[in-house]
Amino acid sequence: LTQQRYPVTRLPFSVVSSEDLAAFERILPGGVVTDPEVLEASNVDWLRTVRGCSKVLLRPRTSQEVARILRYCHEKNLAVNPQGGNTGMVGGSVPVFDEIILSTTLMNRVISFNSVSGTLVCQAGCVLEELSRYVEERGFVMPLDLGAKGSCHIGGNVATNAGGLRFLRYGSLHGTVLGLEVVLADGTVLDCLTSLRKDNTGYDLKQLFIGSEGTLGVITAVSIQCPPKPRAVNVAFLGCPGFAEVLQTFSSGKELLGEILSAYEFMDAECMWLVTHHLRLASPVQESPFYVLVETSGSRAGHDSEKLSDFLEQALSSGLVTDGTVATDQTRLKALWALRERISEALSRDGYVYKYDLSLPTERLYDLVSDLRARLGSQAKHVVGYGHLGDGNLHLNVTSEAFSPSLLADLEPYVYEWTARQRGSVSAEHGLGFKKRGVLSYSKPPEALRLMQQLKALLDPKGILNPYKTLPAQA
Ligand code: FAD
Ligand code: MLT
Ligand code: ZN
Repeated sequence: LTQQRYPVTRLPFSVVSSEDLAAFERILPGGVVTDPEVLEASNVDWLRTVRGCSKVLLRPRTSQEVARILRYCHEKNLAVNPQGGNTGMVGGSVPVFDEIILSTTLMNRVISFNSVSGTLVCQAGCVLEELSRYVEERGFVMPLDLGAKGSCHIGGNVATNAGGLRFLRYGSLHGTVLGLEVVLADGTVLDCLTSLRKDNTGYDLKQLFIGSEGTLGVITAVSIQCPPKPRAVNVAFLGCPGFAEVLQTFSSGKELLGEILSAYEFMDAECMWLVTHHLRLASPVQESPFYVLVETSGSRAGHDSEKLSDFLEQALSSGLVTDGTVATDQTRLKALWALRERISEALSRDGYVYKYDLSLPTERLYDLVSDLRARLGSQAKHVVGYGHLGDGNLHLNVTSEAFSPSLLADLEPYVYEWTARQRGSVSAEHGLGFKKRGVLSYSKPPEALRLMQQLKALLDPKGILNPYKTLPAQA
């Protein structure tokens, strides 16, 4: 299936032999999985759109074990696919052919937490939601949050440079990650696991691995800055009559809410239809063409609710917003967030999903959705737009009953050309993985691509780490 849809040829890596399996068993007693039933889940991606045929999954517990595995694979010319929670959206987390799956599942130990600075140091396989719970019990929060929190690993988050729902407030992992430990393709352990806020000693090497999608090294441990847990959190879920009003509400929110604005997400009416029909969630507001979720986080409840009331009063009286609801308690807060967070789950129940994750000038964000709806007509089941509007990030998704090559031909390269004309990004936060590695040049010049290829050759001269991913196939 994968090879038909995405033409690709296996590179001349070795095939895992019984001798290799015995060597792995010596490095990881009990950590070598060859049971086809267990392997099935690790060979298929979350969206169920790509499938590999790996025969072996390795589960190390320590960085030293990862180093020994990679040293061995490098010597034997065996290809390796690093895998975290396997929630990636671009087919990067599963093998394309028979690459060895190197899973961080058992690397789930917190190494240290400093309750003065809020610095968390942990192994790469810690599940995001578990880390959130851990730091929240200590009065802090993780600087990132995403719908996949229950499964994704912090190492996978760093490897994809995941954006998510708190990006507007706390910024990118390029800022919040303070240090990394990475095992390079030849088994060298690169210990840059410091917890310093400021450190200008030479090139900042950790940045190279943030967003490198497992192609430059295996992240084994992460040091990350956690902000204090806000004492007051409010969520407003609002209906807007048009996209112009969505934008104006954002401007007004920035102005009136100021420093307490912590998220500004949007979804269109078709998204609401999907979550109410496929997931049986109830809409808390009257039907509208658009919905926005506004979150505030601050240190004093009274101050925040006063500001939020002013903002809502203005938005309602000026017609920017036609209906809305506000939540402050945990249960209702979570229910409002679910409407937005679970859109991707609802989409995957709708049929085959064509997924685009674009950075565009915010004013033009929705033009592409309307344009495509007209272009595709009845070929598509749904054409929807949602995403992190506050960060200029549109999730444009199209569904059809089953995969259709003609629908795909109407979508690509059209979507990428449209984005390139706006000098946008063809991957805002999901990465390129396997499915999008061919479109990098829509957002980066040839000089940048060449330098990326040189870096890859320097760090992984045999190309054993996540082959067929991120960078386009070389002629
Ligand atoms: P995987 O899917 O296992 O791997 C992803 C990539 O990282 C692969 O290329 C893999 O080889 C590599 N990798 C994994 N671990 C390591 C490691 N230790 N060292 C080196 N390379 C590694 N993304 C966003 O940015 N924002 C969102 O809001 C968001 N929401 C999501 C919601 C849902 C419901 C789902 C299913 C996904 C969502 N994603 C989102 C996609 C996002 O990329 C992943 O959820 C997450 O960051 C990947 O983590 P993971 O542990 O599952 O990694
Ligand atoms: C989201 O913001 O919901 C995620 O990035 C997942 C998706 O795009 O479907
Ligand atoms: Zn997203």
